[in-house]
Amino acid sequence: MTNHLLDHTAEDTFLMCAPDHFEVSYVINPWMAGNIAHGNRSVAMQQWQALVEAIGQVAKVKLMPAMPGVPDLVFTANAGVVLGNKVVLSRFRHVERQAEEVYFDAAFTAHGFEVLTLPPELPFEGAGDALMDRSENLLWFGHGHRSDIACATRLSELLEIEVQPLKLVDARFYHLDTCFCPLAGGYVMYFPEAFDAASQAAITARVPADKRIVVSSEDALHFACNTVNSGRHIFLNQASPALVEQLQSRGFIVHQTALTEFLKAGGAAKCLTLKLNEPQQTVARAVD
Ligand code: ARG
Repeated sequence: MTNHLLDHTAEDTFLMCAPDHFEVSYVINPWMAGNIAHGNRSVAMQQWQALVEAIGQVAKVKLMPAMPGVPDLVFTANAGVVLGNKVVLSRFRHVERQAEEVYFDAAFTAHGFEVLTLPPELPFEGAGDALMDRSENLLWFGHGHRSDIACATRLSELLEIEVQPLKLVDARFYHLDTCFCPLAGGYVMYFPEAFDAASQAAITARVPADKRIVVSSEDALHFACNTVNSGRHIFLNQASPALVEQLQSRGFIVHQTALTEFLKAGGAAKCLTLKLNEPQQTVARAVD
């Protein structure tokens, strides 16, 4: 089935950071427990390079410098949230990641962004928790584990955009991008049980039934929702044949690229990237 809506994106640009210093050296999410010093950096490097190569076939990849002492810097999704020429810089909840903020700030400045910040008392973890809808001028915002709910109003003011908060209730899905992914054409792929009842209702109220792609717990636990999407291309760690079929029937091309080393730190494809081109959406959610 062809779906012209998926082709209407200009070439995307993704910010990434090589895993030269990647390791699990502390535990700040359930995936990291039991994995301290259990990683294999050369496998991590191969997996990361395969992801860069795959994305590089359809989009641009920009690299920021790898730095020692900040092993989670590879997860550039957490750098901040971008809209147009502005970025709201992250302020990490856990002290273990706070040293990353200056490097992300420098990367945004180097790429010409206007860097905005939130009040110091408000934890905010960037595009881990703040995801642009792909057909409405709307920012989906996950809170409950890392980012503070009070950021919702601030983000709305700073970026001049409507913000829809979603409450995360399962510690394994501690960032919004671990369980929710807006896709081209206005589709949303998500794992409902990661959200409280009111947030599940908000999703079903805002996204028409034919645009919702519900993921099983098995797929969610393989980080299928942690997807990089560029036009009709989808890059993810692993998806069941049933999910692949669901995505293909909507016109997507699914690229599975193993990221098991990064799952040990609680991340996969989407966490390893940050989309730098985020124009304001002007079209209403289209139905095909
Ligand atoms: N170890 C990192 C953390 O717990 C993983 C971050 C994954 N990033 C993401 N966007 N979900 O903060």
